[in-house]
Amino acid sequence: MCGIVGYVGRPDGHGNAGHSALDVVLEGLRRLEYRGYDSAGVAVVADGVISSRKKSGKLSNLLAELEARPLPETVTGIGHTRWATHGGPTDQNAHPHLSDGGKLALIHNGIIENFAELKRELMAKGVTFASETDTEVAAALLGDIFRTKLNGDVSDGGLTRAMQLACQRLEGAFTLLAVHADQPDVVVAARRNSPLVVGLGEGENFLGSDVSGFIDYTRRAVELGQDQIVTITADSVDITDFYGAPAEGKEYHVDWDPASAEKGGFSSFMAKEINDQPDAVGQTLLGRSDINGKLTLDEIRIDPELLKQVNKIIVLACGTAAYAGTVAKYAIENWCRIPTEVELAHEFRYRDPILDANTLVVSISQSGETMDTLMAVRYAREQGAKTISICNTNGSTIPRESDAVLYTHAGPEIAVASTKAFLAQITAAYLLGLYLAQLRGNIFSGQIKDVLADLNKIPAKIQSILDNSGPLRELARSMKDEKSVLFLGRHVGYPVALEGALKLKEIAYIHAEGFAAGELKHGPIALIDEGQPVFVVVPSPRGRDSLHAKVVSNIQEVRARGARTLVIAEEGDEAVKAYAEHVFYVPETPTLLMPLLTTVPLQIFALELASAKGYDVDQPRNLAKSVTVE
Ligand code: G6P
Repeated sequence: MCGIVGYVGRPDGHGNAGHSALDVVLEGLRRLEYRGYDSAGVAVVADGVISSRKKSGKLSNLLAELEARPLPETVTGIGHTRWATHGGPTDQNAHPHLSDGGKLALIHNGIIENFAELKRELMAKGVTFASETDTEVAAALLGDIFRTKLNGDVSDGGLTRAMQLACQRLEGAFTLLAVHADQPDVVVAARRNSPLVVGLGEGENFLGSDVSGFIDYTRRAVELGQDQIVTITADSVDITDFYGAPAEGKEYHVDWDPASAEKGGFSSFMAKEINDQPDAVGQTLLGRSDINGKLTLDEIRIDPELLKQVNKIIVLACGTAAYAGTVAKYAIENWCRIPTEVELAHEFRYRDPILDANTLVVSISQSGETMDTLMAVRYAREQGAKTISICNTNGSTIPRESDAVLYTHAGPEIAVASTKAFLAQITAAYLLGLYLAQLRGNIFSGQIKDVLADLNKIPAKIQSILDNSGPLRELARSMKDEKSVLFLGRHVGYPVALEGALKLKEIAYIHAEGFAAGELKHGPIALIDEGQPVFVVVPSPRGRDSLHAKVVSNIQEVRARGARTLVIAEEGDEAVKAYAEHVFYVPETPTLLMPLLTTVPLQIFALELASAKGYDVDQPRNLAKSVTVE
């Protein structure tokens, strides 16, 4: 939710620092645009003056503006790409916001919750506002402190000191970056509950919402803690808390290369990421067992004795990650025999949930920054529960604040609608379920070995679905004018149906609903009329026999009422053919693992249909990749 970049290089261009601030900032914004694209803006400091440009809409609009009205070449700059919260996506509400008579520029990710009170206070002092944003209030507060409290004195901390004092007044979630005309070689940033990472260069330093903001220039990153302020110059990085006490950041190496965050010849990031899925699952499985086939999850640092005592698991997540959690519930309960609940993170802490030291909370988040999930994890820890995070982003907040983390290794996911992260999350959740079962002796080690062997066959099976997707793509293109598509599934096919519907809503803006197939006759069947397309995710005929038969009956029920039935079934399932207008087969696999395969055709369907409509599948309207506000 909002992407932020900051840069300071050496004015004389020594070392690697011969970069132009604007080039670095724009490249960072290009990579961070997935975080929001309601507007974009930049500010640079040159010759003691702040110059800024901002434009509503995508980054391309800002680039056109910069072409028409160029900014001076300089070595200090900040940039922002916005997902609107307070105030619509207009030029006026775009960041940066200026204060101190145009000498200070500020950008922000998050929500300042006490902005109304601060605004009243500042207005009483004669400050005027040009936008409807909470950010402009933060800019005005910072400018006011710099000018009236510190008398514009830059000798004693200047902007850094002003930022500390401002942050002491701010409530809510924020990453703030500021530059001031009187301190041309400094960018000051603050973070509370919103992401911010420092990039270390030689004679230059960087700030970004995540490492993709500076991945083209350095792989050395520094993780910041909560409520910290960082001041970067070309040659220094100084961290303090909000009261000026020195603090330390944690340096780490970024192990993915810039190319993995590029489209690599695909028409969209989403197409590339769907195609990356054999790797995403394969990498997530890599190195998880010892030579005897025993599962070893080295990252799980919770005392095994405590894990043995767990008597309840709560899975917390939002969006696609929550559907991965629903798949996990079936597997974990089956393997571990521990009651498992799945809850949308934003609902969790408002209902007085019952949890204690024997509760294991498993959060699932691609970004590791989703505010609702983070807040739910914090709440769970406060209640004494043990917390494990399944996460794709190294060094992000949720894993940092959890007792343990199981990283998915899907690589950077840029398209807003999640695909490869979903399969990697399911894979990691299976590993966790197996690990707990192993620890508690619920299933024999031979069985664990068998499941791991089945999991290791999944990447090749996904590849075969990708390689044979021609007819599905054709069907999707032919359906571009549909107004509504329904999805049915049962057992682990149910969350797959929900995810299939979500993908279509997210990127094709088509009304789509996922239902538990058994629920059909309790209401949703009333939606079926002549020609209504219905996808049905059919369980394996080799699994629990009644399950397959029941879903085949459901196909017949909707078909009898005029539905066009589009069936995802396992190879060799002849029974479905008679009732399906189209059948798309996936390779044979054990029932519990089927979501890793049956999801893929639904992703491809949504991608192809949305592309046929001419939509930007990577940046769907109104959405953002990472929702860092509650
Ligand atoms: C946003 C994204 C979804 C994602 C959800 C959870 O809504 O648009 O694609 O599933 O956030 O994100 P997380 O990073 O926590 O997995």
